[in-house]
Amino acid sequence: MRLVHSLNRCWESLIPTVKIFRVTHDYMIFNCLSVSFKLGIIDHLADQGPLNVVELARITKSHEKNLFRVLRVLASEGFISFNDKNQKFSINKTSSLLTSGGIKSEKNLESLFSMLQYPAFMNSWQSLYECVQTGKTGFEIENNMTFFQYIDEKDSDYKKIFDAAMKQKNEMTGIHTQVAKSFNFSNYETICDVGGGIGHLGFEILSQHPSSKICVMEIEQCVKNALDTYKRDSTKLKAIQQDKIKFLVGDMFQPKTIPSSNIYTLMQVIHDWNNQDAIRILSSISSVMRKDKSKLINNNQVINDNNRPKLLIIDQILNDNNFEKESFKKMVISDLIMMTVVGGEERTLLQWKSLFEQSGLTLLSIKKLNRPPFLSILELTV
Ligand SMILES: C[S@@+](CC[C@H](N)C(=O)[O-])C[C@H]1O[C@@H](n2cnc3c(N)ncnc32)[C@H](O)[C@@H]1O
Repeated sequence: MRLVHSLNRCWESLIPTVKIFRVTHDYMIFNCLSVSFKLGIIDHLADQGPLNVVELARITKSHEKNLFRVLRVLASEGFISFNDKNQKFSINKTSSLLTSGGIKSEKNLESLFSMLQYPAFMNSWQSLYECVQTGKTGFEIENNMTFFQYIDEKDSDYKKIFDAAMKQKNEMTGIHTQVAKSFNFSNYETICDVGGGIGHLGFEILSQHPSSKICVMEIEQCVKNALDTYKRDSTKLKAIQQDKIKFLVGDMFQPKTIPSSNIYTLMQVIHDWNNQDAIRILSSISSVMRKDKSKLINNNQVINDNNRPKLLIIDQILNDNNFEKESFKKMVISDLIMMTVVGGEERTLLQWKSLFEQSGLTLLSIKKLNRPPFLSILELTV
């Protein structure tokens, strides 16, 4: 696979027109994949086996000839297979990764793909031009509200898809397990995961450090999703009923809503926000940490590394420009998504340090995780 990729790159560098055509064609192929995904074609092929276009058009109530033309593109690009003898389409190794009920593995990309091809996400890219011209996000220009307002107030279905996509992305790389194992959370009684989604990191910390008490602080829609999701999971429901993990509605911009804890975590949250908002969030948490510290001092406790309030930021650190590296390319695409959709950015260590300085936080250590590249745990205190 890597060899084919390198050969393609080599070919493109020799004949630049190939590169231009590839990128314009990729955009059209993505749309073909998105349409067949929306029509449920991949699931129908997975559930019912090979089908011809007459059958597929009937099941999906589509225009037979146009559907065939779209599917033919996907077959020619290797997303599905086509048998010339019986004229039937079937799924293959690639499309099996996009099935909802079929192969379930940590490599399944169905939720991630669902999030990326959702209309409110896709239309942000139509406004990339205005985004570059005005500094606003494409998402805001198209949907008249920020991404997080949209998923919290307007489209609870998309929030569910977003939460599932975050889970899928993190499971692919085993980030939560790496984080839970890389830090001795057992030293801390109470842990607050700010913007912790539906609690994937929280549950992982609990499984590695069973004596911990976790509070996941989130927006209202997310707390509802979490409680709804775990109704059907007896182990997790038990942990909630035993108060080992709780879900709390709060606003990370409002210190009053952040529960006092021994340690706070912010996993892949700050990269969603511009510098001004990032400083507001970090200042809000650092003010709660300062109060925690004052309480210890007032109780005549000596502050040491075991009781000092801590904040762990689990996020990417962007390396200096290294355009040839594949990992750098992934990182700048992630930065582009932050810019166009949510209004955040990926940051270099220098940029992170500037945020900390302006939020009253002191950086104690940085631990690099194995996967994905650039992801690190930044340990901070006040
Ligand atoms: C990129 S997700 C990260 C989720 C989780 N930490 C993870 O790594 O899977 C960012 C999260 O921040 C939450 N969020 C957005 N605005 C928030 C706010 N004002 N207060 C608390 N959480 C918020 C979102 O609901 C979302 O779940």
